[in-house]
Amino acid sequence: MLTIQYPHLILLPGLSTDFRLWQHQAAGLEEVAHISVGDLTKADTIEALAADVLHNAPSEQFALAGLSMGGYVALEIMRQAPQRVLALALLDTSARPDTPTALKNRQAAIELAQTDFPRVITELMSKQLHPDHLDDELLVGLLTEMALSLGSKTFIRQQQAMAGRIDSLPFLQHIHCPTLILCGREDAITPLGVHQEMVAAIANSGLVIVDNCGHLSAAEQPTRVNEALTHWLSNIELKS
Ligand code: MLT
Repeated sequence: MLTIQYPHLILLPGLSTDFRLWQHQAAGLEEVAHISVGDLTKADTIEALAADVLHNAPSEQFALAGLSMGGYVALEIMRQAPQRVLALALLDTSARPDTPTALKNRQAAIELAQTDFPRVITELMSKQLHPDHLDDELLVGLLTEMALSLGSKTFIRQQQAMAGRIDSLPFLQHIHCPTLILCGREDAITPLGVHQEMVAAIANSGLVIVDNCGHLSAAEQPTRVNEALTHWLSNIELKS
């Protein structure tokens, strides 16, 4: 009998999102991978979040895809345990640390979250989504519900983790597994340029740009993202 082997794929969400961000990937990729979603809500450093994902990983080796903050954690996993990652996908993320302005903005968001968290989420979403998607009631409703259910304490912990992250640019040259870099063309938080510099630094990598798409590509353009992830997964060689 012929048994088909699929890789395990761990999906890592971004700020104030969870498995619901990846619902279209969980449904659309179930025939090409065993999917699980990492929990990035519990720690306030990128190092501890990465260690937690590794500790809870469903298998010794896996493919790893992270969106935005999930990408920051994925890069840290590459530092902590590169031998465990069969293939890496970095979506709408960056290898750079925060600029002084970004740090100031994070601090302001942390302060506002303590008194008016719903406003923080509304303002965040207006930057995250492509303008065309701000009228998508289903999508905006899902993201709002997700962020509110995760709550302000999770938001603050995640902001602290991201603020303390190190510069990953010098590390990129040490990544050798098949790597997909994917970016919404209109991503206003981690723009195209920071993805182009990651592709230039990672030898075995390719760039996919998704049109009519902001920062939350997995939810904004799921069909296009699933196509790119399916192609990327097909490059993985599994040992039997
Ligand atoms: C995210 O979507 O995870 C965050 O907006 C990324 C960031 O703030 O750097």
